[in-house]
Amino acid sequence: MLYRLIRPILYRFQPDTIHPIVAGGSELVARTPILGRVLRRYFRVDDAALRTTVDGVTYPNPVGLSAGFDKDGQNLHFAETFGFGFEEVGSITGREYQGNPKPWARRMVRNESLVVNYGLKSQGVERVAQRLERTHVAMPYGVSVAKSNLPDCCGDVAIADYVKVYVRTKDLGRYATINLSCPNTTDGTPFSEPETLEPLLKALTEAREQHGIRKPTYLKINPDIQREKLDRIIDLVQHYRLQGLVIGNLIKDKARAHALLDYPDDHDLNWPGGISGKPVRNLSTEAIRYVYSKTHGKMTIIGTGGIFTGDHAYEKIRAGASLVQLITGFIFGGPTTIRNINKRLLKLLRRDGFTNVSQAVGTDHKK
Ligand SMILES: Cc1cc2nc3c(=O)[nH]c(=O)nc-3n(C[C@H](O)[C@H](O)[C@H](O)COP(=O)(O)O)c2cc1C
Repeated sequence: MLYRLIRPILYRFQPDTIHPIVAGGSELVARTPILGRVLRRYFRVDDAALRTTVDGVTYPNPVGLSAGFDKDGQNLHFAETFGFGFEEVGSITGREYQGNPKPWARRMVRNESLVVNYGLKSQGVERVAQRLERTHVAMPYGVSVAKSNLPDCCGDVAIADYVKVYVRTKDLGRYATINLSCPNTTDGTPFSEPETLEPLLKALTEAREQHGIRKPTYLKINPDIQREKLDRIIDLVQHYRLQGLVIGNLIKDKARAHALLDYPDDHDLNWPGGISGKPVRNLSTEAIRYVYSKTHGKMTIIGTGGIFTGDHAYEKIRAGASLVQLITGFIFGGPTTIRNINKRLLKLLRRDGFTNVSQAVGTDHKK
């Protein structure tokens, strides 16, 4: 309610201006001992039915903050305070990159969507890792690993960059995600192609064995990936014994995303960047459904894209996601979003006779 009142004021500022102020300010408040505790008590929904264990990691609830909100690991207390069950920090790249020319994000309010063009802005793995080493939160978090968006960071140099981030963050966070699909980098998305993905997975597997990396590792893909390509990626994930997929990232095919908008006039096809939020919702849910069915539920899926409500989250869980994540729904919905989603999830679980989240995963396939 309060957020609805202040939202028009926030919308007077560009997202690039308002994001660091709101996220940074809220992080400070979240770290304040008494106020932080009061806020946590209000926003966090603590219920055994929401607790879930995935690949050996126990999450207090299945609703995470997606990669991109907290690129440099500066907002973990904020995410914990506002009710998230986990967060994905990053994407973190080997070297520092200041980001693409601004604007990095444009709001399309009526379309419930953002046009995102950060281009893997990152302080670089060393700085972020040192910060994470000093940060202590009870909430589990994952680390999103990407390659530096710099002109020379292609081919083997890019693979070495991924490996550098993966190894430097090996003891940080409870899982890693290899982000293949950032659409806003200068050389496109080279590792989304199965032919180029294989040497990357090989190098990461060698690093995992050499450095004794035990934490679950997932691959993040586009929600609009062609089925044939997805089949080959599933085979590679199984071959290299990764735990699963994060589905999915921003829509990179702008024309396709444009056609999915409720108000296409609010969007300019010349704007660079990928599209988040509502237009991603069904594409990602259908990709989740496909992977779950193809792998007979044996591969972990983290579902993201267009989640604004508990019903949207539940839809992805029933389609096959063990965990869900969001970012755009939280930006538009404000601080009570995750509380509302978790409360609604509890109601939906009870309605369908489930005593915990894991019982609901993939149930659409068992009808
Ligand atoms: C502002 C913004 C920045 C993002 N940056 C990243 C990123 O650095 N790495 C990544 O894997 N995904 C990134 N994403 C994609 C999100 O993690 C998510 O996959 C996508 O936005 C779909 O979820 P949503 O509809 O809930 O936003 C970003 C998204 C937004 C909105």
